[in-house]
Amino acid sequence: MKRQRIVAGNWKMNNNFDEGRDLTISIIQKLGPSGTLAVLCPPFIHLNYMSTLAKGIANLKLGAQNCHTEANGAYTGEISAPMLKSVGAEFVILGHSERREYFGETDDFLAKKVGAVLASELRPIFCVGEKLESREAGEQESVVSSQLEGGLFHLSAEQMSKVVIAYEPVWAIGTGKTASKEQAQEMHKFIRSLVAKKYNDNLADLTTILYGGSCKPDNAKELFSQPDVDGGLIGGASLKAADFVAIVNSFPDSK
Ligand code: 13P
Repeated sequence: MKRQRIVAGNWKMNNNFDEGRDLTISIIQKLGPSGTLAVLCPPFIHLNYMSTLAKGIANLKLGAQNCHTEANGAYTGEISAPMLKSVGAEFVILGHSERREYFGETDDFLAKKVGAVLASELRPIFCVGEKLESREAGEQESVVSSQLEGGLFHLSAEQMSKVVIAYEPVWAIGTGKTASKEQAQEMHKFIRSLVAKKYNDNLADLTTILYGGSCKPDNAKELFSQPDVDGGLIGGASLKAADFVAIVNSFPDSK
């Protein structure tokens, strides 16, 4: 069994309802059948309608950008994993650096969110990645390893088999500065080795690890040609249908 290739679009806080509908329709028109799974992660308000548009398209799924730890209760303004499931989401991005940075999300809190997502039979796309100062100090591996330990490695092997990991170096997000293919490969290989050490080789081999950070149609081919890069988590370029679909189609045939 080969690991799943995924290209996920993180729309972040962009697109009102009409814009989201038009973008989704345009992506669907351009997206051919493919062995790569495309996952659209819009703001919550789009999910219900977008899931009706995506129904029956085997290589297109929906995801959310966040959820709460609890299933329901007095948490004004929050959205729970069972709610996301009820409108057709299958994935939830967790631990994005913007959530960590602007909303103070800690590894412990994220570990609870991961549990909530899995309990609703959704799949976490769990983000890790170092800031520029850590990269410059050569500490990128220790940062990523502690994020994985703190947020994910309490899971059983069965639970871990549902998780997608996204490596997003913070210095590459929205900056136009992409990690080189060598930097991406080196970190992805390191992450896979940690999963192997914590669980086993087979699980590590089957774990989908995405790269995120200024991934565009003109650099996706190079990044996706790396043996441990199984796709991308795309911000800015996921807001243009042609760019997003070009990235989905950026795997070399051999992979
Ligand atoms: P950009 O592709 O805009 O750099 O954003 C990456 C990202 O944060 C995806 O989650």
